[in-house]
Amino acid sequence: MGKCFYLLSVIILSQLGSGLQQSITIEQFEKFQSQYLSNIPSNDVTNCSLNACEALKMLSHLLLTMKSSIPLSTTEGSGKRLNRKQQVVANDSEEDTAQIASMYLDLNKQVRQIESRLRSVEQPVWRLTPGITNEWNHCTSGVCRCHPETKSFICWNTNLKSVPVTQVIPMNMVRIDISRNYLSTLHKDTFRGLTLLQQLDLSNNVLDFLPFDLFRDLDSLVQLRIQSNQLEDLDPRTFWKLRNLNLLDLSKNMITELPESIFNHVQRLTVINLSSNKIKIFPPGLLRDQLVLEELDLSRNEIITLQSGSMKYLTQLKVLDFSWNAIAFVSDDFFEDLKNLRTLILHNNRITSISRSIFENLEQLGTLDLTMNRISKIDGNAFSELGNLRELFLGQNSLSRMPHGLFLNANSMTRLALFSNNLTTLEADDFQGLTNLKYLMLNNNILKYFDGQAFAPLQNLEKLRIDSNKLQYLPHGALYGLDKLIAVKLDKNPWHCDCRALYLARYIREHQHRLWDGQPVCRGPGDLGGGEVGLLRYDDLCDGQWASMLSLSPRLPVRKHRISTPMNYTDYFNLYLKHIYFTTTNENLLDAQTTLRTSRRFETAASITI
Ligand SMILES: *[C@@H]1O[C@H](CO)[C@@H](O)[C@H](O)[C@H]1NC(C)=O
Ligand SMILES: *[C@@H]1O[C@H](CO)[C@@H](O)[C@H](O)[C@H]1NC(C)=O
Ligand SMILES: *[C@@H]1O[C@H](CO)[C@@H](O)[C@H](O)[C@H]1NC(C)=O
Ligand SMILES: *[C@@H]1O[C@H](CO)[C@@H](O)[C@H](O)[C@H]1NC(C)=O
Ligand SMILES: *[C@@H]1O[C@H](CO)[C@@H](O)[C@H](O)[C@H]1NC(C)=O
Repeated sequence: MGKCFYLLSVIILSQLGSGLQQSITIEQFEKFQSQYLSNIPSNDVTNCSLNACEALKMLSHLLLTMKSSIPLSTTEGSGKRLNRKQQVVANDSEEDTAQIASMYLDLNKQVRQIESRLRSVEQPVWRLTPGITNEWNHCTSGVCRCHPETKSFICWNTNLKSVPVTQVIPMNMVRIDISRNYLSTLHKDTFRGLTLLQQLDLSNNVLDFLPFDLFRDLDSLVQLRIQSNQLEDLDPRTFWKLRNLNLLDLSKNMITELPESIFNHVQRLTVINLSSNKIKIFPPGLLRDQLVLEELDLSRNEIITLQSGSMKYLTQLKVLDFSWNAIAFVSDDFFEDLKNLRTLILHNNRITSISRSIFENLEQLGTLDLTMNRISKIDGNAFSELGNLRELFLGQNSLSRMPHGLFLNANSMTRLALFSNNLTTLEADDFQGLTNLKYLMLNNNILKYFDGQAFAPLQNLEKLRIDSNKLQYLPHGALYGLDKLIAVKLDKNPWHCDCRALYLARYIREHQHRLWDGQPVCRGPGDLGGGEVGLLRYDDLCDGQWASMLSLSPRLPVRKHRISTPMNYTDYFNLYLKHIYFTTTNENLLDAQTTLRTSRRFETAASITI
């Protein structure tokens, strides 16, 4: 233990000193020193009798004392009126407290860093031996599984707290898996001389520190998995020697900051996974050398802005995942160079608008996921250059209408998700261009009405969701010509079951097999409320009920002879017109016409038919 002492004392004292001087004045430092540091032997560090562990214990104790001296609330006594002088004093001590609090956090981190460095120095190392048959025999007699035929060593899930000291590791080892253990750090010589090692799996341990030269000899390493550990800081040099590294998985750690130079010299990376860390800033120069990178996963971090130039040179990138961050700003040229990008995932961020040029160079893009943002504005040409776009996910945003001509060049698109937006209506040309669309999800909007021609371009549509909207009527002919439709979901709308529901009722009856899940149910009028739309016939929908819908009085007579169904829509409609126009008074007729005019489709239908 004693061997760390000198190192420790020098580091602790220098760090303490510099930490303090940064944040407070000399006088305050002296005050602080007399209050908190008097226990630390500081007159002659080279002759201190403490060993590393004792010193650390002492330092931890010191930090605890400090922490307990920071009041939980700095607003204590704020209810009292103070005179001017007292106010100054109060402000002074508030500042002090805040400074001590931030100092505490700083020091705490520094102590943890020192502690893990020391732990690393004191880690045992296994026996690295020449790769000869005899040594491979020794390797197989160790506590773990050693396979000479594949030159691999697997010590998976064996409760290791450090590497087994008696284990022989021949230096021509090709694969090492020591994942799922309790390793908290490793000695810098653990992989020394393993120049043929190709795969190293350190995942699912509790690693909080990697010596910067741990991987220095791993010239042949192709895959490095360190995911699911507790790394917070990485030395910029950690990966510099890994010239042949292809895959680096650092996901599920606690990395807050990435040194901009951390991937320097590592030029063969094709997959980098940094998902599930705490990265706030994505340094613009980070990926400067990654000319062959194909997949980059930065999902589940805390990134707020995507700065211009960060993706320059990533011309081979195919998959880019920034989901579950807090991205609110994306520079217009951020994606500019990603000519080969196939999949771009931006879901769950705070993007509010899509500009005309942001995606314009992504010629190969097939999937664009923008689900769960705050998008309320999309430029009408935003997708016009994306000739290969097959899937577009825009669900859970704030769109209240579709931009004009948005899909004119989108004839490759097969899936379009627009669920959970704020759409109130659909125009006749909103989906113009989507001739190959198979799935359209419009559920959970606030659609009240849409143009009967809106779905007309969707000749290849197979699944349609317009459930959970505010639709009272399905426009006449809205689903005409959608012959490939396999499933349509219409329920959870406040369907109004008067004569205008004839089209819907008949559609349901004739295409029962296409109905997906629940039966559409009438909201009203009167006692039709709660009934299934598909069960209602002409008499139910048109006779008598019309009166209640128009609030005409007196009620129209109920037909004496029930009409035998089935009839086609035109027949129903003519009957209904006759009913309206030949059995009511002039005054009622006028009333009815006014009401009819409020529904565009009905107005045109009526004027054509009469
Ligand atoms: C170190 O401490 C010992 C006793 O604690 C003392 O005898 C010795 O003179 C000290 N050495 C130096 C260099 O101060
Ligand atoms: C001290 O703080 C109070 C409120 O916290 C503020 O109103 C006052 O201006 C401050 N005084 C000085 C001298 O900063
Ligand atoms: C990155 O890691 C996360 C969590 O470990 C995993 O779910 C995800 O699939 C990985 N991404 C890639 C591109 O391999
Ligand atoms: C949706 O639209 C309504 C009004 O039509 C508005 O009050 C509401 O804030 C909008 N919601 C979003 C998320 O944009
Ligand atoms: C509806 O039926 C009538 C005869 O009952 C027929 O003349 C008309 O062409 C049919 N219309 C449609 C659209 O099928």
